[in-house]
Amino acid sequence: MPRTPLVAGNWKMHKTEREAEEYIHALLPRVAALASVDLALCGPFTDLRAMIDSARGSRVDVYAQNMHEQREGAFTGEVSAAMLSELGVRGVVLGHCERRELFGESDRALALKVPAALRAGLTPILCVGETEAERDGAQTESKLRRQIAADLVGVPEDQLAHVVIAYEPIWAIGTGRVATPEQAQQAVAFIRALIAGRDGAAAERVRILYGGSVNPENAADLLGLADVDGALVGGASLQAASFAEIAGAAR
Ligand code: PGA
Repeated sequence: MPRTPLVAGNWKMHKTEREAEEYIHALLPRVAALASVDLALCGPFTDLRAMIDSARGSRVDVYAQNMHEQREGAFTGEVSAAMLSELGVRGVVLGHCERRELFGESDRALALKVPAALRAGLTPILCVGETEAERDGAQTESKLRRQIAADLVGVPEDQLAHVVIAYEPIWAIGTGRVATPEQAQQAVAFIRALIAGRDGAAAERVRILYGGSVNPENAADLLGLADVDGALVGGASLQAASFAEIAGAAR
């Protein structure tokens, strides 16, 4: 069964509720004719309900950018998978390098978050990737191996195929320096081989995205790669027109 591509826009800390609604109204007619691609917008918590209302009945799913691993408890400022799922959120970005670096999101927490998201019926997009120093030190594969092993350790075998992985070389995020198609293909194929080492059938179904300075100009090259099943788009997802163009390249 071929994997349906997924193009996800990660807004990060951008857009008020009103801006989110305006964006979705501008986006929907632009993507209405796309048939064979899943679309997701990952919004700030405060926008999620309005995004879900605005996107209802369309092919655009609404995702969150983070969640806590526990179902509930004394965790001031946090949001659980159950809270997201009851709203109608369909998935969640986990382990984004900004959360790892700026907010201390650890592999230990991720080992709990990924299965917690799956239990709540959310699709996790787990982000992995190497820093520039790690790349220069030929440590890309060891970093990916370590992150995949640590972050997916708690995922039951029958759930593995539902995880989405985003390969995001940290040096390419928000820098305008995109991985070459060869670099992206190599890393994504390596990740698929890691998953296959655990479960060959699941590895055929797991979607692996590329993220890092994807834009309308480079999207077709990246999305055309054999093992790349879509994109996680930051800056270029902030305008409906450019996000729609990238989505259109994913066929
Ligand atoms: P970028 O961000 O597209 O702006 O590089 C990607 C990401 O952070 O997921």
